[in-house]
Amino acid sequence: MNITLSNGKVIPMEMHKVRIVQAIHLVPAARRLQAMEEAGYNTFLLRTKDILLDMLTDSGTNAMSDNQLAAMMVADDAYAGSESFYKLADAVQEILGFAYTIPVHQGRAAEHLLAKAFVKPGDVVLMNYHFTTTRAHFELAGATVLEIFTDEALNTQSTHPFRGNLDVLKLEDAIQKYGADKIPFVRMEATTNLVGGQPFSLENLRAVKKIAAAHHIPLVFDGSLISENAYFIKQREAAYADRSIREILAEMMELVDIFYMSARKSTSVRGGMIATNRKDYYDRILPWLPVYEGFATYGGMSIKEIEAMAVGLREMTDVNVAGISPEFIQYFVGRLQENGVPAVTPPGGLACHVDAKRFLTHIPQSEYPAGALAAAIYIASGIRSMERGTISTDRDANGNEVYADLELARIAIPRRVYTLSHIEYAVDRLTWLYQHRDLVKGLKFIEEPKVLRFFFGKLQPLENWGAELARAFEADFGPEC
Ligand SMILES: Cc1ncc(COP(=O)(O)O)c(C=O)c1O
Repeated sequence: MNITLSNGKVIPMEMHKVRIVQAIHLVPAARRLQAMEEAGYNTFLLRTKDILLDMLTDSGTNAMSDNQLAAMMVADDAYAGSESFYKLADAVQEILGFAYTIPVHQGRAAEHLLAKAFVKPGDVVLMNYHFTTTRAHFELAGATVLEIFTDEALNTQSTHPFRGNLDVLKLEDAIQKYGADKIPFVRMEATTNLVGGQPFSLENLRAVKKIAAAHHIPLVFDGSLISENAYFIKQREAAYADRSIREILAEMMELVDIFYMSARKSTSVRGGMIATNRKDYYDRILPWLPVYEGFATYGGMSIKEIEAMAVGLREMTDVNVAGISPEFIQYFVGRLQENGVPAVTPPGGLACHVDAKRFLTHIPQSEYPAGALAAAIYIASGIRSMERGTISTDRDANGNEVYADLELARIAIPRRVYTLSHIEYAVDRLTWLYQHRDLVKGLKFIEEPKVLRFFFGKLQPLENWGAELARAFEADFGPEC
């Protein structure tokens, strides 16, 4: 909940108490440099013992509520027919309005099953923007992924409230060009991850549905960050200012043919699901479930997490739960802007995104500015962020580099985990780094996997800049920080 202080300053206030804590440690800059070198300048390969604030992702790293933890204690651990599954199915029906629920072990498993059931070679899958695993699954099934975002989507200094919108004119054109029979579905991703956690409006979702339905193309909704998108609709779309998150979710879901989510984000558990009201779709997907995930009433999830997910689905409709991370991000972005650090605007969900193209203007995309920035942030602060740019985009079939539309260092805000002093620390160290940005140079691959190379790839700093950055940091802050 945003609170206005008596001096007019607005701060996000945590509407929860912290009852369980986990210690964190700050290792000195010299060790951070060594750890970065051991990790091949890839923040995925760091160990958490070397990390102060783990802002790699909000996926599976959120704080659960007391009610979620309590629910885990009463799990009905059965291979088949578990009552815990029926509690989840009831929550899905109540909150999202779907009659059929298919649990899966996480979001990409849902994408895998959708690819198996709906996507065939030569198909074109239309979407507002891709997510890494989404594109991988649909391309592995032989399809092409076509993103039809608006011109505003890639403007990192925008004031547009809904940069995640799909461009409906381009949608009409794409359907004309490829033909409806080649388009298995249109996918709308809530709080669009790779464009900086940007939402779409309900008006846009309605327009997309109308066009898709006119051509008998199903609308698939990736709801991994659904509660945040609903929160942004409430904040930014005038017609919904007085509507509850629950009402907004219900209105969104009326437009959706197939829903799926990674439950690791909005519902703060480790799992995922697919849901629909179409029995024929359910029947198409279900046979693949035991092949790749598990039986229909657990789908690869721990039953304890299924219990917690049922609670999490209801809790995410609380405006203080849906809003916690957008409000922290808004504060974070605002503080960076005050200090002249180029953060992506408007502030989105999931993370504060720093624009590496504007931060490191001297590094060309061929030398991976976003990867260099994520590594530099760690050396200067002990904060782990994630590269979301060209390293996160695999080469094409001919081995050519595909430059990403955006080069972002994503500093994720796991829900209910960090406090304002952590954010202030991050702002301070990012500001220091911005003032010393000339010390940061590019990266080159020394080990480069073919698929999703950002997970395991190893890189080397050009001109050994990491050591120089660590030296400059020590000179300003001393050897202990
Ligand atoms: C929008 C979106 N879709 C799908 C996924 C994949 O989900 P998971 O990581 O649970 O496999 C993610 C994960 O970050 C995501 O952000």
